[in-house]
Amino acid sequence: MNEREPGFGVYIHWPFCAAKCPYCDFNSHVRHQPVDQERFAAAFAAEMATMRGRTGPREVTSIFLGGGTPSLMEPGTVGAVLEAVAANWTVAAGAEVTLEANPSSVEASRFRGYRAAGVNRVSLGVQALNDRDLKFLGRLHNVEEALTAIGLAREIFPRLSFDLIYARPGQNPEDWAAELEQAIGHAVDHLSLYQLTIEEGTPFHALHALKKFAIPEPDVAADLYAVTQAVTNARGLPAYEISNHAVPGAESRHNLTYWRYGEYVGVGPGAHGRFVEHGTRIVTIAEKMPETWLNLVEARGHGVTGGETLTRSEETDEFLLMGLRLTEGIDLARYEVLSGKPFSTPRLAILEDEGLIEQIGNSRLRATPSGMIVLDAVVADLAR
Ligand SMILES: C[S@@+](CC[C@H](N)C(=O)[O-])C[C@H]1O[C@@H](n2cnc3c(N)ncnc32)[C@H](O)[C@@H]1O
Ligand code: SF4
Repeated sequence: MNEREPGFGVYIHWPFCAAKCPYCDFNSHVRHQPVDQERFAAAFAAEMATMRGRTGPREVTSIFLGGGTPSLMEPGTVGAVLEAVAANWTVAAGAEVTLEANPSSVEASRFRGYRAAGVNRVSLGVQALNDRDLKFLGRLHNVEEALTAIGLAREIFPRLSFDLIYARPGQNPEDWAAELEQAIGHAVDHLSLYQLTIEEGTPFHALHALKKFAIPEPDVAADLYAVTQAVTNARGLPAYEISNHAVPGAESRHNLTYWRYGEYVGVGPGAHGRFVEHGTRIVTIAEKMPETWLNLVEARGHGVTGGETLTRSEETDEFLLMGLRLTEGIDLARYEVLSGKPFSTPRLAILEDEGLIEQIGNSRLRATPSGMIVLDAVVADLAR
């Protein structure tokens, strides 16, 4: 496969968590009764068979079990889901198979079972490397458990990434640099580093509005972002996307499929998919509520309740929004094919003069580090 081929991914959403973190607006739910995992596994397989009917035969380059908390799945459930992927499409040799895991000890005890089921990459939700901040973030694990989970994951899986959330209340650039150095010291080859975002409808949104805590001012947040780039560059894990850093070659194949505007199927409650059907790129959006989704799949083979065919201009906007997040930027020739026209030269010149975008040779365009910080505005300007 060509090095920059977007690929074809399968995303599977596990919509349950042991507790809801106060900052999170992902489609995740807490259930106090045991979840019927066999029933969910059968529904995932049924929805995949419906999707297979729509995509036709394809070669899958990556599989991603995301959530929610997929490490609440029994290894047997993960095995059944991976078998269903292989029964419907051809899984490429060496395909990346990622599972998102929380670092609590119960979940780490399932790691060997996941590896045996075919998972070859784990993405651990570490979030912070100090107990005070883990508590603030409402996490169920402490630093000791996170370090144990990291050690175990490194032993068991060929590839490991972990997530940290920064720009926390009171965090200064020196503390963050030290925490980041410590994180990289655990010999990961991939890190996802997200600035804390106050999402509407979450407990943090209400608490923040009541001034119960404050997040760093924009100038401090910009310093924290700069520190993130400096430390990761110095340690050999440069950003390949706004929030994602990797040793070159260890980038997430699955996430690159999203950003390179490849095709992917979404399976499970609230999952989204984007693939070409009858020559047109379409979007699928599934019902979010797990039990409602389950009933829909059992009744008619899928839980898709929304979706559309993208117009050429919507497709072009999405392509820009995704591709300009990447350090490699976008291919100008592909843009022209998608949009049917080249960029307006005067508009490019203005954004280049403002230091927000740059051309790489004659073939690619990317956002500069300053452009990345105001990416939505840059894309809006380019897409006009
Ligand atoms: C679906 S969760 C990952 C898996 C797992 N459930 C966990 O939390 O450990 C994806 C990641 O998004 C990040 N995230 C979620 N909400 C966020 C927010 N409001 N601000 C910044 N990062 C957030 C966290 O780093 C989290 O690990
Ligand atoms: S951050 Fe992860 S563990 Fe916390 S509620 Fe969201 S999906 Fe669940």
